[in-house]
Amino acid sequence: MSTPRATLGELERLMIQAAAWAAEADRLLERAGVGPGWAIADLGCGPAGILAEASRRVGPAGQVVGVEAAPDRAIAARLGAAAAGLPNVIVRIGDAARTELPAGSFDLAHARFLTQEVDCDQLLTEMVRLVRPGGLIALEEPGDLPWEIDPEPAGYRRIEPLVRARFLARPTAAGSALVARCRRDLSVLDAREVRLELAGGDQYAATPRHALAAAAPALLAAGSADAATLRRADRALRAAARDRAVRHRSFSVVQILARAA
Ligand SMILES: C[S@@+](CC[C@H](N)C(=O)[O-])C[C@H]1O[C@@H](n2cnc3c(N)ncnc32)[C@H](O)[C@@H]1O
Repeated sequence: MSTPRATLGELERLMIQAAAWAAEADRLLERAGVGPGWAIADLGCGPAGILAEASRRVGPAGQVVGVEAAPDRAIAARLGAAAAGLPNVIVRIGDAARTELPAGSFDLAHARFLTQEVDCDQLLTEMVRLVRPGGLIALEEPGDLPWEIDPEPAGYRRIEPLVRARFLARPTAAGSALVARCRRDLSVLDAREVRLELAGGDQYAATPRHALAAAAPALLAAGSADAATLRRADRALRAAARDRAVRHRSFSVVQILARAA
């Protein structure tokens, strides 16, 4: 192996990520006042997204529609909803920026970890189109705070900003810049940054290692790091992900709740 490679499939990684952030997403829905009978869209839902949390809150009289571009992820989301007994969930294969769902048909449109992949302006335009007058837009995207590991693995201080820069390539897509972007065009009701505290041994503690594996080819190509440095960082991150004595503070996520202005 010349450079670090992810050991999990992307589908499994996204399931672990969705489970890790589920409680924070549920609190966001609670703050939004989501209740029985609401219609919610989860754009770019992946294999799980917040479909289950939304489904439980809107109940049998409500409806949750996931939109996902990758067919395997959409099918995984359908299977997951069926297995969990959530009949009010449907998942469509489609483009979050052009859903073709009827305008004004949702009480709340949500997207998480999507602005790295979909143009932020197009996404917000579609979310505003989808919600009824007075409806809500909820975003959960990477915040400004990096993933911290205590004790810090050797080389992490140098590698972490390089990896992070790969993921936050779009200048308006994350953190305080995204909040400012939303304040410009929407009426922001609430914006806060949340983080997870975890210990090594938690499956989600492998996140920095997966991020390194995903960024490694680009870092090598750009000459930002050599293969030996990346291999050393990979070994250190693998140990930190497994060691139950190591504490992890996740990167922050900015949760934005807004109305179309
Ligand atoms: C980082 S994942 C986040 C998944 C999910 N929102 C969550 O937080 O658990 C981004 C997802 O958006 C999907 N995606 C990317 N571009 C898309 C688009 N234009 N329309 C719909 N889905 C898209 C990807 O296939 C992937 O499943």
